[in-house]
Amino acid sequence: MGLKNTSNNYGSIAKWLHWLTAALFFAAYASVYFRHWFTERDTPANWTALQLHLSFGVTIAVLVTLRIIWRIMNQAPAQEPGSKLEHGAAHAGHYALYAIMVIMPVTGYLGTKVDTEYFFLFDIAMFESTAMFAWISTTFNISYQAFEAPLDYLHKNILGAWLVWILILGHVLAALYHHFIKQDRTLRKMTTNK
Ligand code: HEM
Ligand code: HEM
Repeated sequence: MGLKNTSNNYGSIAKWLHWLTAALFFAAYASVYFRHWFTERDTPANWTALQLHLSFGVTIAVLVTLRIIWRIMNQAPAQEPGSKLEHGAAHAGHYALYAIMVIMPVTGYLGTKVDTEYFFLFDIAMFESTAMFAWISTTFNISYQAFEAPLDYLHKNILGAWLVWILILGHVLAALYHHFIKQDRTLRKMTTNK
């Protein structure tokens, strides 16, 4: 299997980055909902679930950086036949997915009030205790509370609870529509080499 994309298929690097990211989104959601629904406050399980959420999210940030670089270096395979509207919607959807892969980890990190214990291997300092926040706080005369509240709201209540779900659901439904109804190669470009 070639590493790079061809005009017919995504290459193995794009495929790995895509499916690993999809699995990590699932894991980020599963860990945070597990925390809310199945654990009590201030228990070890509650803390572990939070730390796993943070760790999965940080991993997504690293992967999306590699993915954007790889995407710039590699043309995507040609689109399957379709109307201008369909092609435009697919492009817009993919851009929006790239945007949430960046915005979710950034808002999550900036708004988190604890250090990230990355898979319990090493610590990543919370933003409040960094030199960058000290600079922001003195330059703009803003407290951490005032700084993080809108980011936290965006992360949890607007994007996390709604927009990300809608985008992913729309994306998956589009893939299934192509595969089972239009019966074209859209899904196979991301799964096979044939
Ligand atoms: C793409 C990655 C991410 C996704 C999809 C995501 C999604 C979510 C969702 C759905 C929630 C729960 C909203 C609710 O209260 O119902 C949440 C909460 C939270 N996220 Fe993220 N997040 C991501 C990355 C991150 C990162 C990188 C951090 C920090 C390093 C982070 C920190 C938090 C924190 C502190 C909470 C509150 C936890 C809680 O109330 O239990 N997230 N996130
Ligand atoms: C079961 C879940 C998923 C399925 C079945 C799926 C399927 C696909 C397929 C078939 C393509 C190729 C579309 C084309 O070339 O026109 C694609 C591309 C893409 N997917 Fe997914 N996907 C899933 C989950 C996700 C998730 C969770 C994200 C990100 C949050 C995501 C982000 C993307 C992006 C950004 C592209 C465009 C890649 C590029 O050309 O640069 N996908 N996906």
